[in-house]
Amino acid sequence: MTTVAQHLILTCHEDSVDLARAELAAAAPDAAVLLDLAPGVLLADAHQPFDQVAQAWAVNPPIFVRHICPVHAAQPLAGDARDLERLPASLLPEDAPAAWFAAFDPTLTFSVQSRLLAPTAYKPFDINRAVAERVAGQTGASVDVRAPQQIVSLVVAQLPATLLRHLDDPTAPIPARQSHPLLCALAGLSLPAQNLSDWAGGMHRFAREPEQVSRAEFKLLEAFAVFGIDLPPRGRALDLGASPGGWTRVLRQRGQYVTAVDPGDLDPRLTSDSGIRHMRMTAEAYLRADPDRYDLIVNDMRMDGRDSARLMVAYAPALYRHGHVIMTLKLPEQGRRPVLDQALALLRQAYVVAGARQLFHNRSEITLWLRPLSSA
Ligand SMILES: C[S@@+](CC[C@H](N)C(=O)[O-])C[C@H]1O[C@@H](n2cnc3c(N)ncnc32)[C@H](O)[C@@H]1O
Repeated sequence: MTTVAQHLILTCHEDSVDLARAELAAAAPDAAVLLDLAPGVLLADAHQPFDQVAQAWAVNPPIFVRHICPVHAAQPLAGDARDLERLPASLLPEDAPAAWFAAFDPTLTFSVQSRLLAPTAYKPFDINRAVAERVAGQTGASVDVRAPQQIVSLVVAQLPATLLRHLDDPTAPIPARQSHPLLCALAGLSLPAQNLSDWAGGMHRFAREPEQVSRAEFKLLEAFAVFGIDLPPRGRALDLGASPGGWTRVLRQRGQYVTAVDPGDLDPRLTSDSGIRHMRMTAEAYLRADPDRYDLIVNDMRMDGRDSARLMVAYAPALYRHGHVIMTLKLPEQGRRPVLDQALALLRQAYVVAGARQLFHNRSEITLWLRPLSSA
C-alpha cells in the first residue's frame, strides 16, 4: 500500500473534455493529464495537493468540470469476487493504519462511492458495501449514502503497469514506453464539497416517474438540487420554451402557478390544470404583450445561447427583485467558449450569474442560475 498526494480523477461531459482541461490548467497551472480512464474521465497529476485545487474551485467554481476526487492510494485487482475481500483488507490493513486514511474523522458520517470503468464480476454496490463495512468496522463511523459528510471514492479502471508504479512513487518519471494494462482501484478520501458534487462522478440520478412528461425534467430537478434554490409557496413562474411541459410539471409539483410560453403543445395531462396558463406564442411575442411579473423565470428554449441571453436581458423587468432565473444555454459544437463568454457578458448587463454548471443531465448546453442585478 502506498500513498500519493497530488493525483486526482476529473470527470466532465465527454464532449467538454477540452473545456474541462482548460479549467484544470487555470486552477493548477502545472497539472498534467496522465490518462483518459474513460470518455470524460481523466487521471491527472495536479502537481499540487488536491485540497488546493478544491479550494481554488470553492472560490471560483468550474463550469465544465463536474466532479473531482483525489487518488490517495492505488491497488491492483483481480476483477472477480476475491476483490471484495482483498481490496478492503489491503486499503485498510488491521495491523498498520493506512496513512492515506489519517484524515478520516470517525465522528462524521461517510459513504463509499465506486465507479467501475472496466469489466468486473461485481457491481459498484458490492464493492461499496465491502469497503464501507471495513471502514465502519475499523472506525465506528456511520454510513450516510444520501448526505455523507466525507466520501471514500473508488475508481476501478485499467491502467498501464508503468503508470501504477508512477502512482506509487510520484517522483519517478512516467516511462515513455507503454506497458501491459493492469486492473486497479484508485482510492481517495475527501469532503463532498471538495468533489464538486455529492454524487459519484457527479452523476446525479433521479427516479423516473410514470407521470413524467419529458426527460428534460431531470435538468430542472438537478438545477434545483445543485444550486439549492428555494421557491416561495404559491409563487408565480414563467416557463419560456415550455412544450411539452416537463419543467411546467416540475414547477407545479413545487406549488408554483405557471405561465407556459411556447408555440408548441403542452402534454394533454397538463391542459386541465387550472394552475397552468399556456400562452401559445413565442417568447418574443409574449415580451411584446407586456408580461406580468414573476418570482421565477425558467428558459429551456432551443435557441442560440447569445440570442437566448439577449432575450433574458429584455425579460429582466418581468422578474421581481427577489426572483431567480434558471436557464439552459445552448452551445455550438465548435467554438463553445467564445459563445459562452459572449452570452455571459450579455447576461451580466441585467443579472448576477449566481451559478453556471454543465450538469449531468445537460448535453450541448450548460445550466445557469441568475439573480437580478438590482437584488445585489
Ligand atoms: C427542449 S424543448 C423544452 C422542453 C421543456 N423544458 C420540457 O421540460 O418539456 C425546447 C422548446 O423551445 C421552444 N422554443 C424555441 N424557440 C422558442 C421561442 N422563440 N419562443 C418560445 N419557445 C421557443 C420549442 O418550441 C421547444 O418546445
